[in-house]
Amino acid sequence: LKRILFVDDESKVLDGLRRMLHAERKRWDLQFATSGEDALKACEESAFDVVVSDMRMPGMDGATLLGHIRDRFPSTTRIILSGHSELGSCTRAIPSAHRFLNKPCDPADLRATLERVCTLQEVLGGPELRKIVGQVSELPSVSSTYFSLTQAVQEPNFQIATVVEIIEKDLAMSARVLQLSNSAFFGLARRTTNLRDAVTYLGVDTIKNLALTTEVFRAFEPNSKVSASVWEAMQQHGIRTASIAVRLATNKQSRDIAGVAALLHDLGKLILAYKMPDAFCSSIALAQQNNCRSFEAEEKLLGISHAEIGACFLGFWGLPDLIIEAIAHHHHPLRIPHSDFDVSIVLYIADILTHELTDAPVSPGSPDLSETDRANLETLGLLHRLPEFRKLALDGGDG
Ligand SMILES: [Fe+2]
Ligand SMILES: [Fe+2]
Repeated sequence: LKRILFVDDESKVLDGLRRMLHAERKRWDLQFATSGEDALKACEESAFDVVVSDMRMPGMDGATLLGHIRDRFPSTTRIILSGHSELGSCTRAIPSAHRFLNKPCDPADLRATLERVCTLQEVLGGPELRKIVGQVSELPSVSSTYFSLTQAVQEPNFQIATVVEIIEKDLAMSARVLQLSNSAFFGLARRTTNLRDAVTYLGVDTIKNLALTTEVFRAFEPNSKVSASVWEAMQQHGIRTASIAVRLATNKQSRDIAGVAALLHDLGKLILAYKMPDAFCSSIALAQQNNCRSFEAEEKLLGISHAEIGACFLGFWGLPDLIIEAIAHHHHPLRIPHSDFDVSIVLYIADILTHELTDAPVSPGSPDLSETDRANLETLGLLHRLPEFRKLALDGGDG
């Protein structure tokens, strides 16, 4: 039974939520509090899996409450509910909330969101993953450049020059950001050789995401266990998948999120290769022997795959929850309910198309999907669009 706490100063709203979710009481233990102070007290008495808080409340507001909960009960998933007029004040909740929901909220949306965050908790909190996390004693840390960047762009009147300066101080990063900016992923009309142009063309958010990707890959440099060519191939796979994902995404926001998720989706493979080289090698051998995909071999050997491992570590590094979710389920899209063409679906499809394009020997006629992928697409109601997706994936060509 998942414990979920709802916080709102208006008891009418709470009554509405209670009614809305009445049918779920067998799987969700719902509790209610009418102020931030009461909510904290309730959390101290016994921990909650999820806290859903209103943004605007007298006394302690939602952002402050979720900040306290993040510091004191880090494993609780934090969701903020806010009305349209409060969008501005809501940015304060960005560092402390995992998800944002509009108020008044649509019952189906609320239920799906709760279901999704509970599933993610289960997937990332499972015993197999905990065992692996325990084995990976030392986490490579993400250097300060990314955090400086994140802070700089949060300033209300930040200047592009400041962003450029921060990246330039970090030579390896500026080289890599330029290299990625010029990769076909972004389809820039002409090559950029200076960072200022790259930032201007691609936008600060994209550059920030590239910086993050660079950091993450830098945390695992090629070494005796992972050759430069394997490391490079892994990064290339991320870039290819991202180039397809951004073309599949249907709006700017999901394009940005799907792009980063795609760049990093197989990070768990690097973690396995570096931190559990024996398991990594056995899974490759098993995949070859059984002629199956690497994640299936990993699941046979470890009970989970690089998808969950990568998602878990990206969670430690504080990546946005939607990215973590998409990565965690990128081989099993049916684990969660979907709202039309969301980031998780985009990543799933981009990944299978990338594998289709790069894994199989290129032969005339389109290569076919695995039975599981075909069934997944069928269930998602997207199988009939496969030719369209394939065309999109090919058209962008990424050399
Ligand atoms: Fe994967
Ligand atoms: Fe992949």
